[in-house]
Amino acid sequence: MEMERLQKIIAESGYASRRKAEELIKNGKVVVNGKVVRELGTKASFSDDILVEGKKIEREEKEYYIFNKPRGVITSTSDDKGRSVVTDYFGSNKRLYPVGRLDYDTTGLLIVTNDGELANLIMHPKNEIEKVYIAKIEGIIKGTEINKLKNGIVLDGVKCIPKRVKLRSFDKKTNSSIVEIVITEGKNHEVKRLFEAVGFSVSKLKRERIAFLSLGNLQSGESRKLNPKEVKQLFNLVK
Ligand code: URA
Repeated sequence: MEMERLQKIIAESGYASRRKAEELIKNGKVVVNGKVVRELGTKASFSDDILVEGKKIEREEKEYYIFNKPRGVITSTSDDKGRSVVTDYFGSNKRLYPVGRLDYDTTGLLIVTNDGELANLIMHPKNEIEKVYIAKIEGIIKGTEINKLKNGIVLDGVKCIPKRVKLRSFDKKTNSSIVEIVITEGKNHEVKRLFEAVGFSVSKLKRERIAFLSLGNLQSGESRKLNPKEVKQLFNLVK
């Protein structure tokens, strides 16, 4: 059995976050093989008998979902202003959380899981996971502006080069364009800031795909569990 820091094991059991687990340890609420442990660096494994506030902990089964986020939902597990959050849509008793972030007004595909390792791998820019967005922008975008985007835009001191930028359609009557844009970084408000940099404001934004995972016929507010093959495929992408 792999030895890990006690706070990590408690977090992996789903009992509490790592930070909360550290507090529980310091406060003497954690007993390992019959002994109270207050040292934060202590190592243990799931084969040890670990009681937290008197309750035996066990490894939590991992769950992976894709979710079609509606507009007006916060990509979080809680909100201090009482607004609706992604995890409100999940009945699971596991400690699920969204991978990465979509803005309040952005819709579409989110991965939701309790697997912190996979979450970090997917979000890390070095893994270059493709995220495909459909943006409705105000105005008619021209080839020169599309090319500017394709050549890359500096955001936060880093040049972001979209993997693809493609005009899907435009409408002179409503003075708007629909553009498909594929990015791999996932910076805060990245798509909106890319369009802003070439003079356009995004009025609607939807994420259609992450790597090989697409929404399919998942309706707004619906989620579905990934099958073992899809989970394996995800890990293969980042390893
Ligand atoms: N880029 C944005 O600007 N917003 C999102 O929600 C996602 C990507």
